[in-house]
Amino acid sequence: MKVLVCGGAGYIGSACTEYLIDNGHEAVVFDSLITGHENAVDPRADFVKGDLANRDLIIKLCQEEQFDAIMHFAAFSLVGESMKDPSKYFRNNIANGINLADAAVAGGVKTIVFSSTAATFGQPEESPITETTKQEPINPYGESKLCFEKILKWYNEIHGIKYVALRYFNACGATENFGEDHSPETHLIPLILQVAQGKREKIMIYGDDYATPDGTCVRDYIHILDLAQAHMLALDAPESGHYNLGTGAGLSVKEIIDAARAVTGHAIPSEVAPRRAGDPDRLIAGSERARKVLGWNPKFEDAKVIIESVWKWMQKYPDGYEKQ
Ligand code: UFG
Repeated sequence: MKVLVCGGAGYIGSACTEYLIDNGHEAVVFDSLITGHENAVDPRADFVKGDLANRDLIIKLCQEEQFDAIMHFAAFSLVGESMKDPSKYFRNNIANGINLADAAVAGGVKTIVFSSTAATFGQPEESPITETTKQEPINPYGESKLCFEKILKWYNEIHGIKYVALRYFNACGATENFGEDHSPETHLIPLILQVAQGKREKIMIYGDDYATPDGTCVRDYIHILDLAQAHMLALDAPESGHYNLGTGAGLSVKEIIDAARAVTGHAIPSEVAPRRAGDPDRLIAGSERARKVLGWNPKFEDAKVIIESVWKWMQKYPDGYEKQ
C-alpha cells in the first residue's frame, strides 16, 4: 500500500515508517518538525515538511498522491502541558486533525489508522482496561484524542472511510535506527538511562505509597516495534474499530529501574519524591481484541530486553538526532 504517515518524524511514527517499508509498503512522511526530527525520517520514505494547520497543503497532497491509507501520529502528547494550555491540544489534536480527515475525503483515502491513547480512559476502576471500559479522560490531552476517535466514527458513517483507533499504553523501546528524543524528556525509561549516561544525577521515583506490590506505579510498557506491527495489521482490519495495545503485563517504576541497572551496569541512584498529580496506581491493557481480530502478536515483554533496545540506540545517538 501507499501510506501517508503524518508525524513520521516523531518517536512512534518513525519506527512505524521503517516497519512499513521493511514489509514492502511505500511511505510518504508528512511532519511539521515541531516535535519531530528530520533525521528521524526513514531515508527510504519521501518527506513533505508541513503542518496539518495548513489545510490547503494537506488536501492538495492527498488529492495528488492517491494514498491507500493514512497513519495519523501527528499530535501533541504531554499530559502536564495539556493541563496548562488546553487550547494548544484542542487546536492541534482536533482542529488540525479535521483538516487531515477532510483531506482523506478529498483524496479518496479508504483507511485511517489513528494513534489514540490509554489517556482516553482516565483513571478507570477496572483492570485490565478493555475496549468496553468507560472512557472518561481526566486531562485535555486524553479528551482531545477521545474527541478525534468520535470524529473518525462520523467520517466512517458519512464518508465511508474505515478507521482504526489504536490506544497505546506506555510506548517504549527503540529499533536499531529510531528511538525516543523528546525535548523536554518526561518519560521514565529515557530519564533513567540519562542517569546511566551521566547526564542526570539520579532518577526521581514519583511516589512509593501506591496500592501496588512495591508501592510504585505499575504501567503496561509496549515496545514501538509491537505498536508498528499493530499499525500494519490495522491496514487490513475487517472494519472500523478500537483496540487497546499493551502486553497485559505490568511493570513497576522500581522494576524498570532495576532492569536498567542490570542492563547498563550503572548504579542509577534513585530518590523517592512526592506523587505526580494525576498518576493512577496501575494501568494495564486488555488487548485480546487486537490479538483476535487483527492477529496481533506482541513480542516484547521482558523489561531488560526493552531497555537493552533503548540503551543500544542511546549509545548510537548519545545526544539525540540533531547532534549525530
Ligand atoms: N515516573 C517516575 N519518575 C520520572 C518519570 C516518571 O517515577 O522521572 C513514573 C510516573 O509517575 C509513572 C511512570 O513512571 O508512574 C511512567 O511515567 P511516564 O511519564 O513515562 O508515562 P505516563 O504513564 O505518565 O504517560 C504515558 C504517555 C502518555 C499517555 C499515558 C497513557 O506518555 O502520553 O502513558 O497511559 F497518556
